[in-house]
Amino acid sequence: MSTTENPTSHESDNTPESFEDPGLPYHRPRRADVDPKAEKKAERQVAALFGVSIVGTVVAIGSYMALDMTDEIDSIRFVNMAIGIGIFLAMIGIGFGAIHWAKTLMRDHEMVEERHELRSSEEGRAGAIQNLKDGAEDSGISGVKRRPVLVGTGVFAMLLAPLAILWPQIGNMGADWNTSNFGHTMWRKGMRLTRDPDGTPIKASDVTIGSAFHVIPEGLNELEHHKIEEKAKAVVLLLRLDPRDLKIPEGREDWSFDGIVAYSKICTHVGCPVALYEQQTHHLLCPCHQSTFDVSDGAKVVFGPAKRPLPQLPIAIDDEGYIIAQSDFHEPIGPSYWTRLSDTSDGLHADETEGSSH
Ligand code: FES
Repeated sequence: MSTTENPTSHESDNTPESFEDPGLPYHRPRRADVDPKAEKKAERQVAALFGVSIVGTVVAIGSYMALDMTDEIDSIRFVNMAIGIGIFLAMIGIGFGAIHWAKTLMRDHEMVEERHELRSSEEGRAGAIQNLKDGAEDSGISGVKRRPVLVGTGVFAMLLAPLAILWPQIGNMGADWNTSNFGHTMWRKGMRLTRDPDGTPIKASDVTIGSAFHVIPEGLNELEHHKIEEKAKAVVLLLRLDPRDLKIPEGREDWSFDGIVAYSKICTHVGCPVALYEQQTHHLLCPCHQSTFDVSDGAKVVFGPAKRPLPQLPIAIDDEGYIIAQSDFHEPIGPSYWTRLSDTSDGLHADETEGSSH
């Protein structure tokens, strides 16, 4: 007797070589298939869901047009929330309506698609068209007379829903795209450097060697409008190094005071706050993509994807010993791409930025 066994015979475990097609499970008709009342109820439910979508679209467009959006964050948040809720209802109404329609009203029977050559035969193509027609017939789309409310609300909701997204977009076209504000910050000549967030002024004597201050311009906290935007542009890091460690770039001999230097806190890569200071190496590290700037050498990039140094804020000391700005930054702060916009070029000239209005 042979000791090897034919692996396909499965004689040892009685497993058959092929299985019979088990066929389709028993088909249970849905309530809407057998009960006209249930069918009507499902129709009303679907129409109600499409109605929710219509209401959502109206809410989104109405909020955009009627609500007054001021510069305050709370106002912006409220208007955006109202538009968002409208869009949410517009989309979810259509989504749930379509699903409920398919699950309760469309014809519920098994479809079998036989395998065939890649290109359908003429017969197959004609069959596909017929299937589409049957599908339209099943879904009730073609039965406008039979389900006028359902088809009407469905079509209306689908035509209207894109407006919830498009209207605000189109409405914003032609708005103020002047980007020259990116070239300026609120720093100006004589403005004191103050602590972030309480706004108390900083004396030169407060800044010991190795310390770092997060700084905002004097008066920022009192701004009634655009406070967040102005802060996002004007934040500065103030540091004191041993003057012997400082390499002062040409033309900036009077921009620092006794080893105290001020640099924009906004990374020149894509604008994260550069806030990690390594006292020993004098390196400032951006936590987003690890760009590293050497504060002792004009905040030049020593590592990472940033392409230009952090802009330096020229500082001086006033009669009372407080640190003040000599002017605005001499170049646009933040990501380098602002400097490529032609209408920010006026931000590159220090004489224009001194005492500039915003
Ligand atoms: S934003 Fe600073 S390294 Fe990318």
